[in-house]
Amino acid sequence: MNKEQSGKFIAFEGGDGSGKTTMVARLGKYLSTLGYNIVETREPGGMAETLPIRQLLFDQRLKNDGVAQLFLFAADRRAHLLLRVIPEISKGKLVISDRFYLATRVYQGEKGVDPKDVLLVENLAITFDGKRLEPNLGIILDVTPEVGVTRSNKRGETNHFDEDPLEVHGRRREAYLRLGKELGWEVIDTSSLSEDEVFEKLVGVLKKKGIIKDDS
Ligand code: TYD
Repeated sequence: MNKEQSGKFIAFEGGDGSGKTTMVARLGKYLSTLGYNIVETREPGGMAETLPIRQLLFDQRLKNDGVAQLFLFAADRRAHLLLRVIPEISKGKLVISDRFYLATRVYQGEKGVDPKDVLLVENLAITFDGKRLEPNLGIILDVTPEVGVTRSNKRGETNHFDEDPLEVHGRRREAYLRLGKELGWEVIDTSSLSEDEVFEKLVGVLKKKGIIKDDS
C-alpha cells in the first residue's frame, strides 16, 4: 500500500561522524515500510553522472582551495537537483538527501571563502524560476568534534575533510549551530545518544513537522 503523499524534500546536515548516512538509511527503510515512496540520495556525487565531480572534490591537490570546491559542489548540487531531486519531487516522492547547501556555507566558509561569494553561488545553484528550492525540512545532526572523529575513524573510509584537525571540526560545528538557528533548521544533539535514541528523536521531528502522520 502506498501512502498518499505530495512530493517533499528533506535535507540532512551535520559535521563528519554526525551519523547522517546511518540515519538517512534507517529513515528511508522505516518510511518505506510505512508505505511512503522514498528516494534516498546524497551530495556530492549522488548519481553516476556526478561521480567524476566527487572524485575531483576529494583530490588532495584541491584540499586547500575553497573556491574550486565552491564551484564543484555547486555544479554537483545543481545537476543533482535538475536530474534527480526535482523530477522525483514532481512524481510525489519523499526525497531524503544526505547533505545540501548548508555544507558549503560551513565547509567552504571555514576554508576562508567570503560568505557573500558563497551566498551568490548558492543562489545560482538552487534557484529555479526565480525561487530558491528550500527543503521542506532541514535537519542538522549535531556532534562534538571528539565523538564525530571517533565515529568517522570507526567507519574506516575517510576523505581529506574528515582528516582535518579537531579545531577545524569544532569551527564547523559552531557554524552549523549558528546557521541552524538562523535558518530555522531542526537540530538533534547526537553526542551522548545511542543510534536508537537519535532515530526516535528524528521520527518525533518528522511528526512534529507534519512530514509523517502522528499515528505512523
Ligand atoms: P562523504 O563521503 O559524502 O560523506 P559525509 O557527507 O557523510 O561526510 O563526504 C562529503 C564531504 O564533502 C564531507 O566531508 C563534507 C564535504 N562537503 C563540503 O565541503 N561542501 C559541501 O557543499 C558538501 C555537500 C560536502
